Amino acid sequence: MILKKILLTWGTGYIGSHTALEFIEKWYEIVIIDNLYNSDISVLKNIEKITWVLPKFYEIDLKDKQNLEKVFKENKFDTVVHFAWLKAVWESCEKPFLYYENNIIWSLNLFELMLKYSVKNIIFSSSATVYDSTAWKAPFFENNITWKTTNPYGTTKLVIENILRDLSNHK
Ligand SMILES: NC(=O)c1ccc[n+]([C@@H]2O[C@H](COP(=O)([O-])OP(=O)(O)OC[C@H]3O[C@@H](n4cnc5c(N)ncnc54)[C@H](O)[C@@H]3O)[C@@H](O)[C@H]2O)c1
Repeated sequence: MILKKILLTWGTGYIGSHTALEFIEKWYEIVIIDNLYNSDISVLKNIEKITWVLPKFYEIDLKDKQNLEKVFKENKFDTVVHFAWLKAVWESCEKPFLYYENNIIWSLNLFELMLKYSVKNIIFSSSATVYDSTAWKAPFFENNITWKTTNPYGTTKLVIENILRDLSNHK
């Protein structure tokens, strides 16, 4: 019995592929989108070897809103799990604009389509980098968040946390 249909952005990535296995084992139907910037298509075959299920896959960049919308038209999702992200702290310091654009701007395409197609549930992985590690020592607590992140990667996570809070309050 299929319980729920889930869109995984980054399902061929490191954490994504493991999460895909867990969802399939619990009988969720998953659809994966990834631009394969930091992952390999062979991951899908490995998921199939373990689970006997080959997930539906779209090679799409989140910036490609037109093709992203086709995914929403072709599938009725209950939930989006959004982890597609550039995630190297050092690289974010060298190429901050790449990180702002990929992680913040292109995530907005996803959120707009979720609202348009009434997908109300999202799981979003934030990061310990949203905490100001110069002011607080781990373990961090939610009230340790300040606006003083220490690198652009952390800033992109904190901005999206706030955007998601806005959207959940007002939509
Ligand atoms: N790995 C960790 O230790 C860790 C810790 C905290 C949070 N996270 C977060 O978990 C998430 C997944 O991390 P991971 O380690 O699996 O990373 P990963 O690099 O293995 O997976 C990210 C995937 O996103 C894809 N991607 C990036 N930009 C995209 C875009 N514009 N369109 C489509 N696909 C895109 C990449 O190709 C890659 O497959 C990230 O959001 C990361 O910030 C990871």
